[in-house]
Amino acid sequence: MTNIAVFASGTGSNFDAIIDAIENGILDARVRLLVCDRIGAPVIEKAQNHEIDTVVYRPKSFENKAAYETAVLEDCKQRDVDFIVLAGYMRLIGPTLLKPYERRIVNIHPSLLPAFPGKDAIGQALAQKVKVTGVTVHYVDDGMDTGPIIAQEAIKIEKNATAEDVKQSIQAVEHRLYPEVIQSLFIKEESL
Ligand code: GAR
Repeated sequence: MTNIAVFASGTGSNFDAIIDAIENGILDARVRLLVCDRIGAPVIEKAQNHEIDTVVYRPKSFENKAAYETAVLEDCKQRDVDFIVLAGYMRLIGPTLLKPYERRIVNIHPSLLPAFPGKDAIGQALAQKVKVTGVTVHYVDDGMDTGPIIAQEAIKIEKNATAEDVKQSIQAVEHRLYPEVIQSLFIKEESL
């Protein structure tokens, strides 16, 4: 079984989907740690409800990014974390974490990358009036939503759809796709 850490900054619906997938036998993993970079984020309560170790940091209170990530790395090492799952973690990952976890950090993003990276991907898609957007799961590198793509799934944007409509369609895909893709990576690794 793979020990994972989930990094999140917000609501935590993908965090919940990962926990559900583990409980339903879709994902063979154990969530050892939630790392949250936003005090008061709703995801914290979700982790506590499941009695999952949680660390909440204010990155700005560290001397620099490397110092913040060194603390996070230590939290991961203490819990034998093999794999890091970003789930709405709105922060770039630096070399302090990327080196020890090379090809072991994945992210989910609410667009068909490379279209609409960064914040508010759904708002960007609506502003461009695209008819199709979607979800991307990718390995994390030092860029903003730029690492090698692992999986993508498209959704249609219906005429007159609101941001909330699109978010609902996207999240329904995310909650199914992310655990499935993570599990497929574990199986691939085992067979190497
Ligand atoms: C998700 O839709 C995820 O794709 C997005 O944040 C949302 C978090 O929702 N991530 C990004 O935009 C990363 N660039 P959640 O907190 O309910 O899981």
